[in-house]
Amino acid sequence: MATLVELRNTSKTFGTGWFSRKTVALRDFSMAVDEDEPTITALVGESGSGKTTIARLILGLIPPTTGEVLYRDKPLLELSRTERQQFRRDVQVIFQDPFEVYNPFYKVDHALHLPVRKAGLASSRDEAVEVIEGTLRQVGLNPRDTLGRYPHQLSGGQRQRVMVARALLLSPKLIVADEPVSMVDASLRATILENLRQLNTEFGISIIYITHDLTTAYEISEKIVVLYRGVIAEQGDVVPVVQEPEHPYTQLLIGSIPMPDPDQKWQQGLEVVAPSTDATAETMTADYAGCQFADRCPHAMEMCSESPPLYQTASNRVVSCHLYREEAAA
Ligand SMILES: Nc1ncnc2c1ncn2[C@@H]1O[C@H](COP(=O)(O)OP(=O)(O)OP(=O)(O)O)[C@@H](O)[C@H]1O
Ligand SMILES: [Mg+2]
Repeated sequence: MATLVELRNTSKTFGTGWFSRKTVALRDFSMAVDEDEPTITALVGESGSGKTTIARLILGLIPPTTGEVLYRDKPLLELSRTERQQFRRDVQVIFQDPFEVYNPFYKVDHALHLPVRKAGLASSRDEAVEVIEGTLRQVGLNPRDTLGRYPHQLSGGQRQRVMVARALLLSPKLIVADEPVSMVDASLRATILENLRQLNTEFGISIIYITHDLTTAYEISEKIVVLYRGVIAEQGDVVPVVQEPEHPYTQLLIGSIPMPDPDQKWQQGLEVVAPSTDATAETMTADYAGCQFADRCPHAMEMCSESPPLYQTASNRVVSCHLYREEAAA
């Protein structure tokens, strides 16, 4: 099994200057994306739980404070020029609002020609157009209705698909999709999720799907990582985690959420949000070394003042909660 990208025991702390407030965005987080088995993994957690931080680490946009980010088992910082170029092609991102990445003064063609040129995918202008038109068709767009237009002349769904086409041009092995559906209406949400699934099944691309929304995470992914304040609460195959959650946090989340109705796909978003009465962010300091969930947990006990490790409770499953220490030892 070859590992494409791996975060190994990474932590990220922001604001380490003298006067800035310290925020621990991520604590001792590990995750690996396998190259041979393209999977969709959902990263789920409430606002501020560290999801985008993980995305930025994986993309090499920020360095970890501790731990390592590896591409094919090699730290990003040690990649040669060619390896770095390959990394840039292998790992692509789809942003929440594709409108933001377009320059409104350029036709959408620009956003597509740029990667073709940068990656040297074509030797002539005609060849570039051919490559681009082919990719647009692959994502269900008619090149004649798409090229030659400005971003605002396309619908939200078309803009999203152009983004997908843009990512696809470079034949990536992994696409990180950070909240791709949070700002869109139900029908566009379904289209985008369908696109992500297609990227996975037809093109063999792994997807890291970042979301607040447990319903779509359940619908679309095979694996799930539930984050709570920069820590993995639990992680495993999506069906057992959602149907029989082990961590008290996941149990609370899922208990407050009706199970998705399989006939009503992607219609209602079930948002993971922090309760508005939550004063804990203030009371718990960045350096608190115990379980991050202890102050909200109905099962909190004395030993929760020590941070729980990830207990393995099944072959594909871990949970960071002391309730499982005996089960895991057995
Ligand atoms: N550049 C930064 N400087 C300081 N703090 C930061 C920075 N980026 C993120 N943070 C903090 O790190 C924590 C995690 O942020 P992150 O953006 O990863 O959360 P998220 O899970 O993506 O949230 P959301 O669902 O709102 O997008 C937050 O407390 C955030 O305020
Ligand atoms: Mg985010």
